Amino acid sequence: MHKVGIANQKGGVGKTTTARHLSFTAMERGLRTLVIDLDPQANLTRTMLYRLMMNADETLMRARSVNWDSIQLPAIAPDSSAHLLFMSGQEPRPMSIAPGVDLFAGSDDLIEVLGWPLDCTQHARSALNRLDDQYDICVIDTPPTMSNLLFAGMICADYLLMPCDLDKDATSGLLDLTQKAQIIAENFNPDLELLGVLLNKVNKRRAYDQTERITLRQKWGDAVLDVELQERSATKLAKEHPVWKSPRGDSDRRAAAEMRSVCESLFKRIGL
Ligand SMILES: Nc1ncnc2c1ncn2[C@@H]1O[C@H](COP(=O)(O)OP(=O)(O)OP(=O)(O)O)[C@@H](O)[C@H]1O
Ligand SMILES: [Mg+2]
Repeated sequence: MHKVGIANQKGGVGKTTTARHLSFTAMERGLRTLVIDLDPQANLTRTMLYRLMMNADETLMRARSVNWDSIQLPAIAPDSSAHLLFMSGQEPRPMSIAPGVDLFAGSDDLIEVLGWPLDCTQHARSALNRLDDQYDICVIDTPPTMSNLLFAGMICADYLLMPCDLDKDATSGLLDLTQKAQIIAENFNPDLELLGVLLNKVNKRRAYDQTERITLRQKWGDAVLDVELQERSATKLAKEHPVWKSPRGDSDRRAAAEMRSVCESLFKRIGL
């Protein structure tokens, strides 16, 4: 199982958007996929629960316009709550979303984990190691605060992906994040490899973005991925379906192509 942790302590930079699309890509490729949502906000979990409903009801999958907010989501299976991964003596079981696709769900229960000693992340690492031969890929989304939950994303992963927008607060936090990743690699997870920084929400018509992305590439070299995501409404809206599902105009098609290219490039990097 190739485990990809997606992390950045800055909020709103595209962690969940990337996690969602990597998960959609894995599903489309028919890979045995484990999705783990370590964020109490549970945005990725909602996407997976919608997917579960769509699998049960084909009309939802095909519908062009659905008021998603009016739909009652299925409940999370009690033994698939992601917080159980952090407890000793538990045998949490991921819930099935689709054939070959399972979820450890995010929920408010994860807030408890924030107060537990860092050791609890070792339980999560061991729990995932036990599932190693059951999946081809595991996608781990993390919350935007330096905490047990974000560290767990790095302690459990083989690869670390750092989505980042061009806001100074986000770019200036990258050094701290990579230093933390290095400490984790040295002390807890020798398998951790930096997949890279994914520039997101880039606006090529904004002069600041142009200079900032060049500066970042000069400073970080190959660590900044060649592929990047522009700021696009289609990407913003793609929460229940992948952005490439039904593009309606040129901008949507560009958004779809960019996301495809990001996902394909990341899969190639991890050897899938
Ligand atoms: N390339 C993009 N263009 C436009 N909107 C985007 C893009 N990428 C992400 N967004 C939107 O920005 C918001 C934040 O994205 P997302 O939830 O993926 O970030 P996050 O890093 O997971 O946030 P958090 O730290 O709160 O978990 C969402 O509304 C998302 O749809
Ligand atoms: Mg998120």
